[in-house]
Amino acid sequence: MNRTIIAGIGSYVPDNVVTNEELTQFMDTSDQWIQERTGIKERRYARRFEETTATIGAAAARVAMERAGVTAADIDFVIFATLSPDYFFPGCGVLVQRLLGLKDVGALDVRNQCSGFLYGLSVADQFIKTGMYRNILLIGAEVHSYAMDFSTRGRNVSVIFGDGAGAVILQSSQDKERGILSTHLHSDGSEAEVLSMPNPGFHSGVHRPEWKPPVPEQKYGGVFITQDLLDKEDFYPYMDGQAVFKKAVIKLPEVIQEALGANNYTPADLQLMIPHQANLRIAQFVQQTLKLRDDQVFNNIQKYGNTTAASIPLALCEAWENGRVKEKDLVCLAAFGSGFTWGSALLKW
Ligand code: ACO
Repeated sequence: MNRTIIAGIGSYVPDNVVTNEELTQFMDTSDQWIQERTGIKERRYARRFEETTATIGAAAARVAMERAGVTAADIDFVIFATLSPDYFFPGCGVLVQRLLGLKDVGALDVRNQCSGFLYGLSVADQFIKTGMYRNILLIGAEVHSYAMDFSTRGRNVSVIFGDGAGAVILQSSQDKERGILSTHLHSDGSEAEVLSMPNPGFHSGVHRPEWKPPVPEQKYGGVFITQDLLDKEDFYPYMDGQAVFKKAVIKLPEVIQEALGANNYTPADLQLMIPHQANLRIAQFVQQTLKLRDDQVFNNIQKYGNTTAASIPLALCEAWENGRVKEKDLVCLAAFGSGFTWGSALLKW
């Protein structure tokens, strides 16, 4: 069977650099607190009213397409992973189809947050291997800066996340020495709300009775956005950081070992491991657990913060541009995040 290769990779980050110091204008925080806890020095925020998740995703896609030597006419499927879509619906996939002038090909939106890119990669891999599609455009992109709580109340979340996009073109190859070897996906919804943005939503408190909004005085409707929600400004991401941290440092090494084991490799065989850029401390923990050397791991969260679905392609693109990934290198990608969902991919570049 043919293998799926990454034929081209691209990224895009907004040019607006926001330092930790700048955030102290809006909330009670400090450069020292942010760097010590997360490793983040700065992040990018989109140009308001000009850039969206779909437009920056399209910008990354153009670079990936050029590097793969394909045009809009060649793309036969689009997968778009994000948790910060332009619209509640339709998804960003169709917006990118329009922005790039693609044919009326299928466009699939992936809602798997931090592991969205890996879920998308796994889906694309199956489509390519079966011969159904020849050139799949996979994008991971986020604009977090439009919807976070920039007051002190939201500081544990808002200092972490940044905006950015990464994209790859996936193609079939007969070269048995290259391509995706395997992907491994998992989920556990028992703690779904630990890292979540439940509002606005259609849940009306069913999953967590303590989050039940006051019932509006009407028989139908009126649950999605209530006055109470607006009054309490209860529409921001929620995160129990310590619970996420504890689970991530167990599941990430586990799923990396799963990918290596499935292909008879050990951590020592890896040329590069790129963990989802959630928090530098999590990445360092994973590195220590797997006894990986510094030159086997690539992180760039210091410059971009956590860009969720974009973080892996953004880091992979930079690693490739800097010569840290060379042809036939053994590369492992791994992510853990909201859901919880987590996964890994092992590939030969
Ligand atoms: N600046 C200053 N103080 C802050 C900030 C901030 N930005 N945020 C929280 N604090 C305060 C808290 O209010 C608390 O104060 P208190 O002791 O007076 O109550 C104190 O700092 C400690 O808060 P904790 O939440 O216990 O801080 P912790 O050391 O756990 O660090 C953090 C928080 C960085 C979120 C950490 O838990 C973490 O990294 N968790 C992993 C979560 C993560 O990486 N999420 C990314 C998204 S998920 C993903 O992508 C996998």
